[in-house]
Amino acid sequence: MMDKTIDLDIRRQDTPYSPPYWQAFSIPYQEGHNVVSALMAIREQPITRDGHRVDPVAWEFNCMEEVCGACSMIINGHPRQACSTLIDTLEQPIRLEPLSKFPIVRDLMVDRSRIFSDLKKVRAWIGLGYP
Ligand code: FES
Repeated sequence: MMDKTIDLDIRRQDTPYSPPYWQAFSIPYQEGHNVVSALMAIREQPITRDGHRVDPVAWEFNCMEEVCGACSMIINGHPRQACSTLIDTLEQPIRLEPLSKFPIVRDLMVDRSRIFSDLKKVRAWIGLGYP
């Protein structure tokens, strides 16, 4: 019998402007894993399901208590906080994508400071009239 695994398909993107692609990973099943701890296991062993060593997946977390929002991502099609989403509640393979409303920095990491940079753009635009 095969050992139980956690299977994840992760949408990756190397730079803000490069095309996205999907990579599949399998990690040994462990009870109580949430999406953040599964991503940590992948970071320790960034090897795809078909055996290729790849760059570690970029993502963020901070509080681990469902407060800061840094770990927000699209999990199986729904925006959720990875630190509080238990693997056992998810259908596999688990699909992880970056939040779609923010510019992608890399992989699952988005730029949540967009509101701030939009303000800077407005200031730059105003600046054009007053060189
Ligand atoms: S790490 Fe802060 S909400 Fe998940």
